[in-house]
Amino acid sequence: MPTTHSFSTSSSQIVCVTGAEGFIASCLVNLLLERGYTVKGTVRNLDFCLLQIEDSKNSYLKALQGADQRLILCKADLLDFDSLRDAINGCDGVFHTASPLTDDPDEAVEPAVKGTKYVIKAAAEAGVRRVVFTSTIAAVYMDPNRSPDVVNWYCYGKTVAERAAWEDAKERGVDLVVVNPVLVLGPFLQPTVNVSIVHVLKYPTGSAKSYANSIQGYVHVKDVAMAHVLIYENPSASGRYLCAESVLHRGDIVQIHSELFPEYPIPTKCSDEVNPRKKAYKFSNQRLKDLGLQFTPVKQCLYDTVKCLQEKGHLPLPRLHSML
Ligand SMILES: NC(=O)c1ccc[n+]([C@@H]2O[C@H](COP(=O)([O-])OP(=O)(O)OC[C@H]3O[C@@H](n4cnc5c(N)ncnc54)[C@H](OP(=O)(O)O)[C@@H]3O)[C@@H](O)[C@H]2O)c1
Repeated sequence: MPTTHSFSTSSSQIVCVTGAEGFIASCLVNLLLERGYTVKGTVRNLDFCLLQIEDSKNSYLKALQGADQRLILCKADLLDFDSLRDAINGCDGVFHTASPLTDDPDEAVEPAVKGTKYVIKAAAEAGVRRVVFTSTIAAVYMDPNRSPDVVNWYCYGKTVAERAAWEDAKERGVDLVVVNPVLVLGPFLQPTVNVSIVHVLKYPTGSAKSYANSIQGYVHVKDVAMAHVLIYENPSASGRYLCAESVLHRGDIVQIHSELFPEYPIPTKCSDEVNPRKKAYKFSNQRLKDLGLQFTPVKQCLYDTVKCLQEKGHLPLPRLHSML
């Protein structure tokens, strides 16, 4: 049975966020700092942080409000139990977000599964109050856009990782709650473009000449971060939380893009003119709404994503773009 822990206020709590410099995790770290938590964030390249090189990969974490007082960066790798144990030791809670976002079987599966098992083990040893694990919609259903003869190693790794998390948490008496987000978009803190943002970057850049006949769920990164925090802070939260605002066809996505940013060369043609248009699946995000989460509409999410890409110089401004 999980140990009963008190739900003390955030200002006296230390929490660990694995993979702190990632897209979702850095947004979560920011939110946790805003709410008064002390955060131990794991990164793979701590040396850069110690040197405080201005352009280092994770200097943006050190620049967050409250980071100088309450953000401790720890070097940890998902395949190194001792490093994870050291990071989780002394924490009240753990947000396990780190995972490779790749479809390379050699990289996608082992760190996802082994890393998750190590995190649960370290959390049990540290006697943490709760572990919030960032899983994915892909661990709930098989990717509907996948062709039947192709293995999606990312989906496989995440599915096995979530299963291992449930089994090990039960065995070790760890209070585990899981978030299953759909494709995450929105403004990013890190200097590089995340894999999920690349998914829509191809439309305003004009690199996609057509859009696919496929559907996808979308959610704003700030809502994903807030979902993690609400789940952590609510003693009665349990089980899995589907984190999705809407499910749209790619045709709807390009349509919204062209309404918001008409100057960009957004594709207007579907690449599949033979098959019927794929239909969106139904889902419920009621469990997160019941915890108090107010989802950002997908239109705002796409707008924020493109604005951030412009501000960070990954996308030419519309006027410049039309002159190129
Ligand atoms: N983005 C989405 O649309 C989406 C949707 C559903 C679920 N998720 C889940 O959300 C989580 C975060 O995703 P994200 O989009 O924020 O990805 P991200 O920006 O690529 O962040 C992933 C983080 O994991 C770290 N990591 C990868 N392999 C590691 C290893 N062996 N040891 C230690 N750290 C490692 C990365 O560190 P480095 O920077 O050093 O590589 C990075 O900080 C993942 O669990 C992902 O499966 C994402």
